[in-house]
Amino acid sequence: MNLADLNKVALAMVTPGKGILAADESSGTIKKRFDAIQVESTEQSRRDYREMLFRSQEAMSQYISGVILYDETIWQEAKDGTPLIRLIEQSGAIPGIKVDEGTQALPGCPGELVTAGLDKLAERLKKYYERGARFAKWRAVIDIGPGTGGPGTSGPGTNGPGIPTMTAIHVNAHALARYAALCQAAQIVPIVEPEVLMDGDHDIDRCYEVTQRVLDETFRELRVQRVELEGMILKPNMAIAGKKCAKQASVQEVAEKTIRLLKACVPAAVPGIAFLSGGQSDEDATAHLSAMNRIGGLPWRLTFSYGRALQAAPQKAWSGKAENVAAGQRAFTHRARMNSLASRGEWKADLEKKAA
Ligand code: 13P
Repeated sequence: MNLADLNKVALAMVTPGKGILAADESSGTIKKRFDAIQVESTEQSRRDYREMLFRSQEAMSQYISGVILYDETIWQEAKDGTPLIRLIEQSGAIPGIKVDEGTQALPGCPGELVTAGLDKLAERLKKYYERGARFAKWRAVIDIGPGTGGPGTSGPGTNGPGIPTMTAIHVNAHALARYAALCQAAQIVPIVEPEVLMDGDHDIDRCYEVTQRVLDETFRELRVQRVELEGMILKPNMAIAGKKCAKQASVQEVAEKTIRLLKACVPAAVPGIAFLSGGQSDEDATAHLSAMNRIGGLPWRLTFSYGRALQAAPQKAWSGKAENVAAGQRAFTHRARMNSLASRGEWKADLEKKAA
């Protein structure tokens, strides 16, 4: 392993003013997205859609540092025969690859999941590196169960049979660290993504407390398994209330609590943190990132690694029609530019209105 080179790639992934496009939806997930815009999901429609994104010259060269691909996409060719991965390289962005194989039920923990994909991972990483991937992603999913205590009642040990269990947190952290160690041995920068879902009715403080336990356990496992922190990127959720919670936190509260949480849990040796959007609205995801970067004085660079918050608008504008490619690219470029500004703490709401 060459740590200096891993660190160089990690720093490039969080270049100021740039962030990561998560275009690594599995075939099942992209079908759901295409269903919403009434587009049939075929190998060709998936290729056409992603080719549209990767050929968005302004977005890709100015605002996007890296692209996370799905296995199908990394082997696919554009209409003119150019491998899609070469389009990404030509734009100046770094190609990456999702290597987890989705989630499975966790035995003994009803309702909880563990991420699969460690089998033969070393061999797969070697093939992806040869194809051009320089970073990878693995997502662990932690759910917050309903009604397991509000602020003041939800400390560690008071969950009883509630979700998440410490078992689920531990096995997922262990798998993340196993994956990260294998990536570094293959000269690939791991994006370590422990996602605490925002699907429930929990408030922001409950999310804070669960995320703290998840991050603490993740960094403990990374240390045990000798992962070099300078050669990785963390992809966390923000501290945010569940979608079904009646009391939603303000942008400033999300920003302040997320920064406080990350300062408590993430060593300064980590070069960068690239957030997932997790089901936030496009504008919320941008506003939260900008507010955090406005706080400033942080030991790591903070940027985006958004899937839905970068792609919902271009998907709608494109809607599967060749004549809409330019409109789709404009929509993608706009969201990428807004998030680029947010990565510098310079986004303002009226920039959205002006563009509309
Ligand atoms: P979202 O931004 O849509 O949450 O996707 C990011 C991602 O890569 C999830 O693994």
